[in-house]
Amino acid sequence: MPPKPKNGDAARNAATSIESVLKEKRVFKPSKAFAATAHISSFAAYERLYKLAEKNPDKYWSDVAGKYHWFKKWKKVSLWKEPHAKWFLGGTTNVCYNALDVHLTSGRKNKAALIWEGEPGDERTMTYSQLHREVCKFSNVLKKRGIGKGDRVAIYMGMVPELAIAMLACARLGATHNIIFGGFSSQALVDRINDAKAKMVICADGAFRRGQKINLKSAVDAALKDTPSVENVIVYQRTGETVTMAEGRDHWWHDLMNLAGDHCDAEPLDAEHPLFILYTSGSTGKPKGILHTTGGYMVHAANSHRMVFDLKDDDIYWCTADIGWVTGHSYVVYGPLINGATVFMYEGAPNYPDWGRFWSMIQRHRITIFYTAPTAIRAFIRAGDEWVNKFDLSSLRLLGTVGEPINPEAWMWYYTAIGKKKCPVVDTWWQTETGGIMISPLPGATPLKPGTATRPLPGISVDVVHKDGTPCKANEGGFLVVKRPWPSMLRTIYGDDERYKKQYWSDIAGMYFTGDGARKDKDGYIWIMGRVDDVVNVAGHRLGTSEVESALVAHARVAEAAVVAKPDELKGSALVAFVTLKSGGANPTLELKEELRNHVAREIGPIAKPDEIRFTEALPKTRSGKIMRRLLRELAGGGEVKGDVTTLEDFGILEKLRQNDDD
Ligand code: WT7
Repeated sequence: MPPKPKNGDAARNAATSIESVLKEKRVFKPSKAFAATAHISSFAAYERLYKLAEKNPDKYWSDVAGKYHWFKKWKKVSLWKEPHAKWFLGGTTNVCYNALDVHLTSGRKNKAALIWEGEPGDERTMTYSQLHREVCKFSNVLKKRGIGKGDRVAIYMGMVPELAIAMLACARLGATHNIIFGGFSSQALVDRINDAKAKMVICADGAFRRGQKINLKSAVDAALKDTPSVENVIVYQRTGETVTMAEGRDHWWHDLMNLAGDHCDAEPLDAEHPLFILYTSGSTGKPKGILHTTGGYMVHAANSHRMVFDLKDDDIYWCTADIGWVTGHSYVVYGPLINGATVFMYEGAPNYPDWGRFWSMIQRHRITIFYTAPTAIRAFIRAGDEWVNKFDLSSLRLLGTVGEPINPEAWMWYYTAIGKKKCPVVDTWWQTETGGIMISPLPGATPLKPGTATRPLPGISVDVVHKDGTPCKANEGGFLVVKRPWPSMLRTIYGDDERYKKQYWSDIAGMYFTGDGARKDKDGYIWIMGRVDDVVNVAGHRLGTSEVESALVAHARVAEAAVVAKPDELKGSALVAFVTLKSGGANPTLELKEELRNHVAREIGPIAKPDEIRFTEALPKTRSGKIMRRLLRELAGGGEVKGDVTTLEDFGILEKLRQNDDD
């Protein structure tokens, strides 16, 4: 018997996804040409390395860590006292030093570190030496404003090089950065700044998005009314629109940089020194501040990047993720720069001025490695092949995906229309919590099957298990767990270690529970079936349905809300909100629906906007008062309500909910 997931999502998806993937028989072996120059060039070599790492993980990770610069070598590789891990104990290093300083003497000094294109079409290139200089200057700016080791700094900017400069400068000094995605609202800023008790905010006046100027500074101004910990704000001028600057508190980036010296030593930091906090959604309560530390994170982010993307010195590498998400932290900034890569970075929307923008940039910049999300791939499929076919994509040699399961048909399109059947596709599974890629093909070694992230990386021990921790049989659905700590594992939830224990270490004894349902096929390939908790993946971004519910209930007219996901062709999941209104108040009108959707966008950000609002007189509940989300999910998905409804308190409700379907 497969285990019964806590909530219905994975179970609901399991039937259909297992059915569809079992039909998936296609296998794509690495071409001889690709394997010939790959870092790991055969499946046998991967398996050898994997077994070696399993036999002696500390030895494996110690060898990997030895590839990077340490001011002082560690005394002990790892220490595990469940649920807390420490890595490279007694060692000191600096992630920024590894990302920049080491290249100044390695022959990469004048190599392009960043090639950047703004949405309006402006371009900038920065060599390692130039980027190093900017980061040193900005480190001095931070120091002068009282920022040092251990302080938390919130960063809220669009995709400009200065965002990378700001985070690298924090890392250089040992200040812990807390990047807040530029699409979040001022309320989300308040929560994250206060939870981290950030001393400073670094922001931009605004950002370009789909031809519009988005004002970021005004969101900061609104947030700063409720954030007592913030002393200074540094504002980078990007769009040039009018902003208000609070005397004494707000400073222009360019003014401070003009006065800053360009020498600043990187601080030797303990391997376990906090590098960053990044907030992500959980199934309940407020967002979780995922804490990552210095040494272990650095080692796995850099090493996984080199292995999975088979990085070569002449690659031009593009990961389309925003730096506001973990993918941007690990695979736009830290991993690639530590490896001395040339990183391409783009500011704006994929369809501005039209759906050819990405392909035009690949052609013009001769991009060789392209890493994006399935939701983007599905949007490109919908936009039509004519946009792709206008451009020369022959520079590409490797493709990657991340963020959610990629359906085999989208995989095939990516492989064929973009990769012209010559680029391996690495489907990479990981999480904000894991810090780096955990499950992924190695492009010169692993035979690919569309729709699976294949096998774990060397040093990473994952399995699919039952609730009691016993392994599932081949193709049997279960819980995806990590059985042993790994260097870039989150260390805790910032300020809430109890929640950390409960969230990741209490479901399955002795193992890290990922929250994902999965199955393992007879070749040991992992097929992700989706979340088993009330977390949904909308367009590759994780949202807790409870957060959206709280936002709705915060509206004056709403009494109660239940938010569930339904499958969506483009976004993976779409949000459906079932809402009951306060009595004697407003009528359930179309205008009110719009108002509620916009209200959520204001409270959390546009990504959280429910796709559908359904007003109802009551929500289906158990006798103990728990909302029966499974029923709502079935209704939202347009399906019949199947399964057990005996615990439902009022049977009439289901009928009413059905009738409300079509308005
Ligand atoms: C959740 C983590 C890691 C960066 C982006 C998302 C889902 C992620 C895959 C993949 C199937 C995937 C999982 C995971 N997910 N990558 N290749 N195949 N599912 O980070 O916001 O922390 O979300 O995204 O459900 O648990 P995140």
